[in-house]
Amino acid sequence: MTIGKGSAPGKVILSGEHSVVYGYPAVVAAIGLRCDVTATDSTDGLNIIAGDLDRSVSYSSDDISNLLKGKIIHPKLDNIAVAALEMGGSDLQTTIKISSDIPVGAGLGSSAAVSVATICAVADLQNKQPKPEEISRMAFRAEKIAHGTPSGIDNTIATYGGALRFQDGSITRKQIKSNFPMIIVNTEVPRNTKELVTNVRELKDKHPNSVNSVLNSISKLTDEFEKMFDEGALIRMGELFDINQGLLDAIGVGHPKLSELIWKARDLGVLGAKLTGAGGGGCLIALTYNVEEAKKISEKLRSNKLEVYHTEISSAGAIIGDSK
Ligand code: PMV
Repeated sequence: MTIGKGSAPGKVILSGEHSVVYGYPAVVAAIGLRCDVTATDSTDGLNIIAGDLDRSVSYSSDDISNLLKGKIIHPKLDNIAVAALEMGGSDLQTTIKISSDIPVGAGLGSSAAVSVATICAVADLQNKQPKPEEISRMAFRAEKIAHGTPSGIDNTIATYGGALRFQDGSITRKQIKSNFPMIIVNTEVPRNTKELVTNVRELKDKHPNSVNSVLNSISKLTDEFEKMFDEGALIRMGELFDINQGLLDAIGVGHPKLSELIWKARDLGVLGAKLTGAGGGGCLIALTYNVEEAKKISEKLRSNKLEVYHTEISSAGAIIGDSK
């Protein structure tokens, strides 16, 4: 049996979520949580086994032609099928098996990581070496299935890893000056990116002056954040996390559970905390002085039965072949 392997990281948006949708910049980083995919030859079409979603599905050849015409066949898994077909061609016969430690639907880029890792596994199966920009472009087409009109930030960071500035589809890769010890807490409140992006757009249509000025402030804050990031100025970055959280609350993407846990993290002495991704639930990130501090505070948060990760920025992006 021939087997192909692929892997890709999850991400956190450090600054610029929502404003990035309107062409403003964002700073995003890959994290240590990853998604691993294997692709094996099959004789019965395209099959997907998603361990993290506890689902297995098969696409018939009719399903595939409908999928490629834009029809939804298996919501939540169609992006994976499209990713596999983008890389392997429309007559691809393979079984895709997913194993991921990135929580699903929590703003950590799980869907883009699966798309990218699938592309890498199929490339490995077919002994191909697509360039990063090709991987990212294919994953973007797959992500459009899952998210409608994504900004492209998730597929980009899942491909390149590390940290980068993203604006209107163009990227600047960032040097990582200090290790960036952070805590991620999952509120476990489900949320939907498409819905939250639509809500912000509707609020902006209703109150253009007010909402545009908040988006503009997030953009200025992101420029400042990028400068602090380049200098490795952790304390300043923490302060900007806190200001950013206020601005995100102002455009309606906060949630009581996010606020509660952000304040809990602040009380425990983090440098700053904010939601990450679309908000409305999902995850928060908090910045700490060092890894020891991150571990200590994570333990305290975990004792409240919360799903907590401590991680740093991970330089590893998409990997074609064995990542272990
Ligand atoms: O929560 P996520 O990982 O889907 O991030 C969404 C980030 C937004 O800026 C809200 C939307 C986007 O496409 O950039």
